[in-house]
This record gives sequence, structure tokens and C-alpha cells, in this order.
Amino acid sequence: MLVIAIDGPAGAGKSTVGRALAERLGLQYLDTGAMYRAMTFAVQQRGIPEGDLAEVAAVAPDVVIELDPVTGTVLVDGVDATRQIRSREVTAAVSQIAANQAVRTELVGRQRAWVAERGGAVVEGRDIGSVVFPDAPLKLFITASPRIRAERRVAEIGGDVDEVEASIIERDRKDSTREASPLTELDDAVTVDTSGMSVDE
Ligand code: DC
Repeated sequence: MLVIAIDGPAGAGKSTVGRALAERLGLQYLDTGAMYRAMTFAVQQRGIPEGDLAEVAAVAPDVVIELDPVTGTVLVDGVDATRQIRSREVTAAVSQIAANQAVRTELVGRQRAWVAERGGAVVEGRDIGSVVFPDAPLKLFITASPRIRAERRVAEIGGDVDEVEASIIERDRKDSTREASPLTELDDAVTVDTSGMSVDE
């Protein structure tokens, strides 16, 4: 089973590079961030406060998440939520849901099963090389400066670059300092700083 693990902070180019790599190698592609976003959306739909650890833990196993690796469509409880999982509301709350250990345990199990069913994949997230697939033969840490990441996001979806940069720095801080599987740069990962690079590079 060939697994390529891609970790790194928000907006560094993991998805762009990961999708291209998967296509070139004929592998499936799994965006685990989309699963944490889908879980966040489901919690909000149920009217549960994101900080209610026990209640969130209780519903996590019941939330049905379906990812279509080809179209990128994300179904949450059978309903298309592809656009909603990228909303400002979900983005602002996802770090809190991702810090919930019960949610992580649930989703890590699903991620391993998803990849095993397909015989391998390029898998993108924050804890892929450290927790989900620690034996992956290739681990990439894809990063870029916060400013560059903010500029790319603004070019894509608009907004104020200073505000976007501030929110990116804040989400990085939460994702790297949390107790449960924080984002870290592993010794056995190859680091690629995409700041001055084109996609092909
Ligand atoms: O990659 P993304 O920005 O769509 O991820 C959304 C959030 O989910 C991110 O702030 C951190 C969290 N996440 C995580 O904790 N572990 C993963 N494997 C993937 C994402």
C-alpha cells in the first residue's frame, strides 16, 4: 500500500501539489482537512456549541461524511456541503473541533479505512506523517510564509490581505500548539517551502 503523507500549515499549497501528485502517480487523493470541516459543519447544523467536548464527541460517530476524490464533492449526512465547509463560519470553528481528541480518533479510523480500501493514496492534513500513517515511505512538509499564503488565498477568493494573514497565523498557532496531534515538522519529512515557487516547481 503506497501512502504519501503531506502535512503543513493552511494555504501552503498542499492540496494543489497533492492533487497533481496523485494524478501523476495514479493514486487516489484524500483531503483530511475536508473531513474536519465536514464534522464542524455537522456540529453547527445540529446546534451544538463547538466547545461542548462531550456533546461533540457523542455525535461524531453518527456524522456521515462522503468525499468524492475526483469531483471534490463533500456530502455531509447525505447533503452536498462542498461550498459550506469552506465558509467563514466553518473556517473560524474548525480548529476547535480538530482539537477534540474524540473527533480525531473517529476521523483517523475513517481515514485509515478509506486509504486501505483503495490500496493507497496521497493523504493531506496536519498529522498524517505523525499519527495517521507514521510508516509512509514519503512524508512531505509543505510550507510557505504567512504573507505568501494570505496573498494566494486573496487571489483565489478575495478579501483583505492583512486580515487573511492574521487569521492564517491564528489558525496555525491553534493547530500547532494544541495537545491532540499538533502540526509539527517531522525529522523524517522532506520540507518544501513553496514561497517563491510555481506549482510545477
Ligand atoms: O487543511 P484545512 O485548512 O482544510 O484544514 C482545516 C482544519 O482542520 C485545520 O485548521 C486543522 C484541521 N486538520 C487537522 O487538525 N488534522 C488534519 N489531518 C487535517 C486538518
